[in-house]
Amino acid sequence: MAKLAIIGGSGLDKLKNLEIERREVLQTPYGEPSGPLTHGRISGTQVVFLPRHGSGHTIPPHKVNYRANIWALHHIGIQDIIAVAAVGGITRGMAPATLAFPDQIIDYTWGRENTFFDDDDSAVTHIDFTYPYCIELRRKLIETTRREGITAIERGTYGATQGPRLETAAEIDRLERDGCDMVGMTGMPEAALAAEKGMCYASCAVVANWAAGRGEGDGHITMEEIEVHLKNAMTKVRGLLEAVIPA
Ligand code: HPA
Repeated sequence: MAKLAIIGGSGLDKLKNLEIERREVLQTPYGEPSGPLTHGRISGTQVVFLPRHGSGHTIPPHKVNYRANIWALHHIGIQDIIAVAAVGGITRGMAPATLAFPDQIIDYTWGRENTFFDDDDSAVTHIDFTYPYCIELRRKLIETTRREGITAIERGTYGATQGPRLETAAEIDRLERDGCDMVGMTGMPEAALAAEKGMCYASCAVVANWAAGRGEGDGHITMEEIEVHLKNAMTKVRGLLEAVIPA
């Protein structure tokens, strides 16, 4: 029985190094997950893969059913989640195609279903979220990149924005003043929901572009550059997953 799941983000709709064994379609009390759960093996170890945006990359960040995804993974007994997520780089070192393992998060999203604790008749519950990412799983990711010689930024604050549009340059300036090193659209409520279920959740952020106003040239961001950088970086992500999973 697999204990580890990988949630794939933009650029990682499919895991080429996953030997697929079966697909499981699940209904949840919160509706449908982004797709069937794909059971298989990476480097001989059982894992479950779920592409966050659907297998054809059709679900935008604000419409992902985060509750259904996390509920489904928890329901089948998953304990650990490595969440791969594309981000824009804000601070020094966060250049396109870099990998980063955030250790903090600031939530700027709104209007998303962001808790499992909202039944009228359940007791009011406030989970501790001081350290939003699983310390042990982050350590494992960091140790693996060091061992394998994969360059990665080992900590940083992830700013979760609503999307689907990219940010303005002024919004990125504000995020930087707040202490954000990277910006993405899917980090929340995913991390909080996993924490509500008592799961161990860590993020492998993949820098797709310099955030708005941070790049060279005219500062505009194009989908073409995002795709090129993600494609390059995903080779590193696949290598990291192959090495981290059996460890
Ligand atoms: N902003 C928000 N989300 C993102 C970005 C960005 O610049 N790049 C990739 N995901």
